[in-house]
Amino acid sequence: MIDKSKEKKILCVGAGYVGGPTMAVIASKCPGYTVTVVDIDQKKINGWNSDSLPIYEPGLLETVKKVRGKNLFFSTDIAKEIDACGIIFVSVNTPTKTFGEGAGRAADLQFWEKTARSIIEHSNDDKIVIEKSTLPVRTAEAMHRILQSNSKGLNFDIISNPEFLAEGTAIKDLENPDRVLIGSMDSDSGRKAAAKIAEIYGSWVKKDKILLTNVWSSELSKLVSNAMLAQRISSINSISALCEKTDADVDEVAKAVGMDSRIGPKFLKAGVGFGGSCFKKDILNLVYLCEFYGLNEVAEYWQKVVDVNEFQERRFVLNMIAKMFNTVAGKKIAIFGFAFKADTGDTRESPAIYVAKKLIEEKAELSIHDPEALKNAKIDLKDCNGKISYYRDYLDCVKGVHAVAILTEWNCFKDYDYEKIFSLMEKPPFIFDGRNIVDRKKLFRIGFNVSSIGKTFLTNLDKHN
Ligand SMILES: NC(=O)c1ccc[n+]([C@@H]2O[C@H](COP(=O)([O-])OP(=O)(O)OC[C@H]3O[C@@H](n4cnc5c(N)ncnc54)[C@H](O)[C@@H]3O)[C@@H](O)[C@H]2O)c1
Repeated sequence: MIDKSKEKKILCVGAGYVGGPTMAVIASKCPGYTVTVVDIDQKKINGWNSDSLPIYEPGLLETVKKVRGKNLFFSTDIAKEIDACGIIFVSVNTPTKTFGEGAGRAADLQFWEKTARSIIEHSNDDKIVIEKSTLPVRTAEAMHRILQSNSKGLNFDIISNPEFLAEGTAIKDLENPDRVLIGSMDSDSGRKAAAKIAEIYGSWVKKDKILLTNVWSSELSKLVSNAMLAQRISSINSISALCEKTDADVDEVAKAVGMDSRIGPKFLKAGVGFGGSCFKKDILNLVYLCEFYGLNEVAEYWQKVVDVNEFQERRFVLNMIAKMFNTVAGKKIAIFGFAFKADTGDTRESPAIYVAKKLIEEKAELSIHDPEALKNAKIDLKDCNGKISYYRDYLDCVKGVHAVAILTEWNCFKDYDYEKIFSLMEKPPFIFDGRNIVDRKKLFRIGFNVSSIGKTFLTNLDKHN
């Protein structure tokens, strides 16, 4: 049982894309709770304590400002804060392992295990420990063993409460979630712990959206949700390749297919490929788990979702090279959008990284423009041997370029002055729309050669002959 005086004291370990926004929303919706977010990264914590937050998310700064210093705090004093709270969310990173057994596929749980060990070290009473990070199914078993191995006779209840927020809409998703999943061990103490966590979410989430399940279902549901979302993208992307061969239009196909109420319209937008820190990592983790349990056919099935994504990224660059007369060497190419999706500065696993590196390998010069992700783009490309420049202003970015590649679906890209862009570019000018967001017919009329995903190439080249 957690100490009565600590029942309303929440700690979150990990102040990243999940920990920061999630706790800001909990603090704002639950004024009766004190919420502290800790991290080992002092710079990040300084950012959270300033008006220049370490991540960009619409509505985040406003939410943080409302509660920071009242019932939301950011700190690096992990030891003190562990002792002070009764409820600990752990949202540290769980990247793909880069070493040893399972390298490239299994989840690297070292940050989670280190956190579990500091919880043991600094706890002097019972706690509820919540898996907020995405973890392989049955991690709770190992974590429970580690936590229960403490020599102080303390009890730790492990709860799985995976996060379903999407970057770019995190605050909206957290304030109005499709569902909140709370998985607990099949014991009295486990069920009581789950009820306490449900009570927190119950402050603003309707009861029927709070699902109480067993801990293994909860852990697995998160992996499966991401795998299924990514699978829809790979499915439509695979069809986009066929559309380009047959003059079918992938947006028209997606619309017709998505109007079937059994299928639905979401996540059927073809593009240059999915990115983000989660989809690939979580599918690879699922693949690894299936292989571990001897389910090789199941593993192969999910592996294909990642393979098709890589095929799509490769196809995009090869198409650029082919259309630009089989060489981009010495040509300047503008990249519009480096973030893995709109409304975020996050570039983790962004298709733009692959496209940029491949173009540099082909000796192109790059001019990169993104409203929020330039800082991360510079880090991602710091080891590239090539000419790369970065622009906040899109018109500066396109001066003298042979092509523009649109790699993120930022809304502002739709409203740019393409007549002006046309006038500043080398001729013949190309637009490669990797997100199918611009008005391609309008651009074609201006004089661009427009290549979109899963659509017929609109070319003005013949007219010049
Ligand atoms: N980013 C998303 O959209 C998203 C959505 C749902 C779930 N998730 C999952 O949530 C988890 C966290 O993801 P994220 O994107 O917030 O990661 P992140 O890398 O942005 O943040 C993780 C933070 O944990 C900190 N950390 C690591 N070890 C620590 C320790 N021992 N003590 C204190 N702090 C420590 C790191 O310094 C970092 O700031 C992952 O498992 C991820 O799969 C992410």
